[in-house]
Amino acid sequence: MITVENLTKEFKSYKKNPGFKGTVKGLFSREVVIKKAVDNISFHIDKGEIVGYIGSNGAGKSTTIKMMTGILVPTAGRCVVNGIIPYENRMENAQQIGVVFGQRTQLWWDLPLTETFTILKEIYNVSDQDFKERMAFLDQVLNLSEFINNTVRTLSLGQRMRADLGAALLHNPKVLYLDEPTIGLDVVVKENIRLAIKEINREFKTTVVLTTHDLGDIEELCNRIIIIDAGKKIYDGDLKSIRDTYGYKRNMDIEVKNADQIKAIDFNTHFNLPPEDFSVEINGNSVSVVFNRNKISAAEIAAVVMAKAVVRDMSIKETDISQIVKKIYKNGGELAWTRSQS
Ligand SMILES: Nc1ncnc2c1ncn2[C@@H]1O[C@H](COP(=O)(O)OP(=O)(O)O)[C@@H](O)[C@H]1O
Ligand SMILES: [Mg+2]
Repeated sequence: MITVENLTKEFKSYKKNPGFKGTVKGLFSREVVIKKAVDNISFHIDKGEIVGYIGSNGAGKSTTIKMMTGILVPTAGRCVVNGIIPYENRMENAQQIGVVFGQRTQLWWDLPLTETFTILKEIYNVSDQDFKERMAFLDQVLNLSEFINNTVRTLSLGQRMRADLGAALLHNPKVLYLDEPTIGLDVVVKENIRLAIKEINREFKTTVVLTTHDLGDIEELCNRIIIIDAGKKIYDGDLKSIRDTYGYKRNMDIEVKNADQIKAIDFNTHFNLPPEDFSVEINGNSVSVVFNRNKISAAEIAAVVMAKAVVRDMSIKETDISQIVKKIYKNGGELAWTRSQS
């Protein structure tokens, strides 16, 4: 559905020298500064995929989305969306995509929401019959009728986001681009939005490309993530393999009857692992163990503990994806290199 090949976007700006002298100098010669916002990125996305496009602020996510939606023309490389080059055939492309930018709205601020939908119906040439069916579906997944007669400016952020998503979907696009769709929303609205995205993807096989800082969005929605850092792609794969590659740490919480029994255990003689692979912290009667599951199993730890202490409760947690992603950002270049070698 989407093919991106060596996509690159450079932004030119002019360096300004400080002070009056600098301004005068600037009149005669200006030093050009080139910023590579997107640097030689390639990937392919199949129909029906939900792909998380993630990276820290300024990584180049929005710039990539803008090229895929046809708003920006690449400096080099190209992208093709369902056979169309978006920035060369903007009108044709617009018919097959829906876009939501969480930071701004595409709704008409001063009109009742229902008018926005009527206008979009005309713009996209949606037939009366399709319009009826579509509105019924959108109302069912996004509860639009709660506020459809209100003026857009009076909507809460959560309502506005649901409305924006509805507006992007009216013409049943093949591809949906969402740039930070859950930014600033409370937990309940976030959950509604996620359910709606899932439902649309399931019902219509809509391809979804989503940028987000919200790891809940990623965990709940994405079968695949692409991570970019400083304009470069550093990871492309599923969440499971990212966990396997980078997420080897586990947390084990053990509740014991008497913490002294734990203090008496000499873990060093049992396991002989460095602190980065095994560490214990005791807090009252709860014991928190962080361990590298490639070096030692939860069962081995549990066996040693249970031989010496009365255990009341025990739980094991995976490393949370946010810690993993942070780690990848930090080591970006090196990990990208390691991966491409293997
Ligand atoms: N129109 C523009 N002119 C100059 N620089 C830009 C422009 N748009 C984005 N940039 C720069 O390109 C980089 C990537 O921006 P962006 O794609 O918005 O990142 P993200 O969405 O991942 O936060 C940033 O350094 C940003 O400052
Ligand atoms: Mg952005």
